[in-house]
Amino acid sequence: MVATARTQQEIKIGPTQLLINNEWVESISGKRFETLNPATGEVICDVAEADAPDVDKAVSAAKKAFTSGQWPKISARERGELLYKLADLIEAHKEELARLESLDNGKPITESLSMDLPFVIACYRYYAGWADKIQGKTIPINGPYFCYTRHEPVGVVGQIIPWNFPLLMQAWKLAPALAAGNTIVLKTAEQTPLSALRIGELIIEAGFPPGVVNILSGYGPTAGAAISKHMDIDKVAFTGSTEVGHLIMEAAAKSNLKRVTLELGGKSPSIVFADADLDYTIKGVHHGLFFNQGQCCNAGSRLFVEEKCYDEFVAKSVELAKQRMVGDPFDANTKQGPQVDQAQFDKVMSYIESGMRQGANLVTGGHRVGERGYFIEPTVFADVQDEMQIAQEEIFGPVMSIIKFKDIDEVIERANKTIYGLAAGVWTKDISKALAIANNVRAGTVWVNCYHAFDTAAPFGGFKQSGMGRELGEYGLQQYTEVKTVTVKL
Ligand code: NAI
Ligand code: MG
Repeated sequence: MVATARTQQEIKIGPTQLLINNEWVESISGKRFETLNPATGEVICDVAEADAPDVDKAVSAAKKAFTSGQWPKISARERGELLYKLADLIEAHKEELARLESLDNGKPITESLSMDLPFVIACYRYYAGWADKIQGKTIPINGPYFCYTRHEPVGVVGQIIPWNFPLLMQAWKLAPALAAGNTIVLKTAEQTPLSALRIGELIIEAGFPPGVVNILSGYGPTAGAAISKHMDIDKVAFTGSTEVGHLIMEAAAKSNLKRVTLELGGKSPSIVFADADLDYTIKGVHHGLFFNQGQCCNAGSRLFVEEKCYDEFVAKSVELAKQRMVGDPFDANTKQGPQVDQAQFDKVMSYIESGMRQGANLVTGGHRVGERGYFIEPTVFADVQDEMQIAQEEIFGPVMSIIKFKDIDEVIERANKTIYGLAAGVWTKDISKALAIANNVRAGTVWVNCYHAFDTAAPFGGFKQSGMGRELGEYGLQQYTEVKTVTVKL
């Protein structure tokens, strides 16, 4: 189904320069690049393009802010107050930010408003609350000593984020890092630079001192690589492809052994037993795969369905996919907008071709929608085999692959046959089956009778090549502190 396009409303664009030391500046090279509206393929505007010299400049500002000036002097509680203030400002500009996000990324405005922005605000508030609760321990060591630990900020943190949830990924990165007292050089994804820059204005307005948060628009192999190998960056936090995750670790290893946390790709199993409430489950797995145009690292993209209910499940999943409204992100009826850019569009289409070539059964979708923008029909493949490319590799698009299984031991083994380990879903009324999956599938998150059930207090991250370290919750905060042991002779 295609929602009808309507006239695009006036959207305030905000700053398009680099934010360094609380000033808006052009790049040293003077270069700029264009960001496109994925719904039309047209240019929205251009933004300053950072490269290695701009990274150097931002790192100098962040280093200075970490060691001198106001930031190291303000109390932990005041850091929390700054974060609360930022959350309030984001809330006050919620509609404007949601529109900007949908314009640059293509996601439906209804979702930017109901999902992205509330989660962003909750994340800043959650970590605001942590700022004055980051505590060490006193340790009863042998001998006449007083021993305690301090949880200190890591230092200058480089953060590299993707385009699928631009504002939310910025929040997941900035909020814990700031709560712990670090200073930051953040690089946005080249596809979606705009919303982060508008947050930059709000960061200044909230009162964060110069140099604490620096925001650069730019490309991966240039600005991104400069961050990952920089000698004055103490930690890099990255979200994106597994391929680039390897490059980041390599650069850290070859430079200064900076701390690395990675949140990478996935090919997450979602396992449906025949005893599950099928109508409820079909809606749940539909959301688990198609949400955000299928552009989720944790998408339930290997859908294992028990043989006994397989045919009924496929038929009903197809019905639901056909009803999914594709179209203008600014139409309130739209459920699915465009893929983020031409490259992602091409990648998804090539996986659809691969599925057909390798003999999977294309039961609905498979085509582009309309003549402009990067829209793809909600697509369902049945009779998918484990070794097919569409069952092995991350598609990152609206393509559901339904795979048949017979029993629980077999499905656990097959679910684990992947380089990834980000998330898993299990759908059943039988608690024993649910817990067998939860305990034996190697993944950082397991959802039982739900999917994408995120909360800012619950840790998220991957086993295996889905990454290292955790984001969100207390575990996420720990990744932004160094533990110092102090021992005093009595
Ligand atoms: P990517 O991994 O290339 O981009 C993510 C971020 O890394 C961007 O900010 C990019 O500029 C930066 N980057 C790229 N190369 C870099 C380098 N050499 N050094 C430092 N930073 C670098 O991902 P891309 O090309 O946008 O998407 C490709 C695939 O990656 C997607 O189809 C999807 O499968 C996966 N992906 C996973 C995401 C997740 O949430 N885990 C998010 C985005 C993409
Ligand atoms: Mg864009």
